[in-house]
Amino acid sequence: MGGIAGIVLAAGAGKRMHSELPKVLHEVAGRPLVAHVLAALEPLPLCDRVVVCSERTDDMAASCAGAGFAQGVSFVVQEGARGTADALRVGLTGLERAPETVLAMNGATPLVRSETLSALLSTHRETGAAATLLTAELANPTPYGRIVRGFGDEVEKIVEERDATELERSITEVNAGVYIFSYPAVKRFVGEVDRANAQGEYYITDIIGMLRSAGERVVALRTDADEIKGVKSRAHLAEVGELMRARIAARWMGEGVTIVDPRTTYIDSTVTIAPDALIQPFSFLEGATSVGRRAEVGPQARVMNSVLGEDSVVSFAVVRDSELGPQTSVGPFASVRPGTKLGRGAHLGSFVETKNTTVGENSKVPHLSYLGDADVGRGVNVGAGSITGNWDGRGKHRTVIEDDVYISSNTTMVAPVRIGKGAATGAGAVVRQDVPPEALAVGVPARMIEGKGNKMAKEA
Ligand code: UD1
Repeated sequence: MGGIAGIVLAAGAGKRMHSELPKVLHEVAGRPLVAHVLAALEPLPLCDRVVVCSERTDDMAASCAGAGFAQGVSFVVQEGARGTADALRVGLTGLERAPETVLAMNGATPLVRSETLSALLSTHRETGAAATLLTAELANPTPYGRIVRGFGDEVEKIVEERDATELERSITEVNAGVYIFSYPAVKRFVGEVDRANAQGEYYITDIIGMLRSAGERVVALRTDADEIKGVKSRAHLAEVGELMRARIAARWMGEGVTIVDPRTTYIDSTVTIAPDALIQPFSFLEGATSVGRRAEVGPQARVMNSVLGEDSVVSFAVVRDSELGPQTSVGPFASVRPGTKLGRGAHLGSFVETKNTTVGENSKVPHLSYLGDADVGRGVNVGAGSITGNWDGRGKHRTVIEDDVYISSNTTMVAPVRIGKGAATGAGAVVRQDVPPEALAVGVPARMIEGKGNKMAKEA
């Protein structure tokens, strides 16, 4: 016996969410609620980590794995949502070996910090209590369980709002849903909890009163009101999201990032930003995005799972699953779709869309272009209105534009096609065959071929 086991209570119906998705899988700041809880547990020296979930275990395990927090975690199923004490009982069955201490916490309280959990564990150790609780004072304590203290300020019990007397409801100290128990104490009482309450559920909170009646010691550590916010409804999800965003923005500002207006800036907890980056208002940095030094994002940029190099600029644009090299610039009004790679100094301007395309160093695509499945070399200029015809109705084909090519306005490159190094096209050219290096391709070789129109419609 020894060590601290972590149990996350993540089953339960989450009725007030009115959702097909389990409550703890709803996301804030780019991660499911339960993954924020696992992130807070990660730095703690736990010997075991168990997540108690509803029948949809596979969803839970996949979501936690997707967020990078499933390693070393066991997922156990609670049959039916019979209450938090029942969830804890099930969680204990998932432990590999008997621990000394159990840290049990709700899976829908994403703002609780690792530092607070460490402090709670220290308090538990130092006081030798049978249970240690996290609490907070809330101006409006609804709908949380209230902490009832007795003589000498000792915690006597926790009473749920629906079961509370009017006097108890006026208590402003609430239960955060984070508990540390000595293992023998929890083992003894978890099976004795009954469901004689307004909801007919087994309450974990009843264990506190039972421990006190048995003469055991219960202590509580108060933390700030925002940290304990639990999600029970969509309104709470929005509230918690706002607090999480403010915390994330404060962290990056503390590390030297300028965020002009944190209230209109949405940065996922999975994003990294280098010092001296500038984040303008109405910007969204999502998923596995990293922003390099002195890069400027926004106003109005949405960047998902992408790398923005040093000194790059993205404004009024959407960038997804792409890599923008140093000193690149994108926008205004560009759509950078998955698989785009921009070399140093490359530029995509207004109304430009790219997909699965590489644009080499110092190449410019300034206006109104579509480059799909293209490899563009260095020092290339793609004139306004030029596009790659990468889809022939059956499959995608690549366009290769070698270094130092000049594509004049309104060129259509019908893939597969290669434009050789140093070549050029004339305005409005429709290029259907490879252009040798240094050659100039001009004109529109549009010929009529009877009976071949709109292949897609005929084959559908
Ligand atoms: C619980 C506490 C309440 C506390 C509040 C803090 C009880 C009885 N009450 O409220 O004192 O102030 O948290 O947010 O515990 N869950 C299960 N299985 C179940 C039911 C719930 O795993 O059968 C999980 C949920 O997924 C959730 C957590 O337990 O993550 C707490 O449940 P929730 O419904 O959010 O909280 P309450 O029970 O209302």
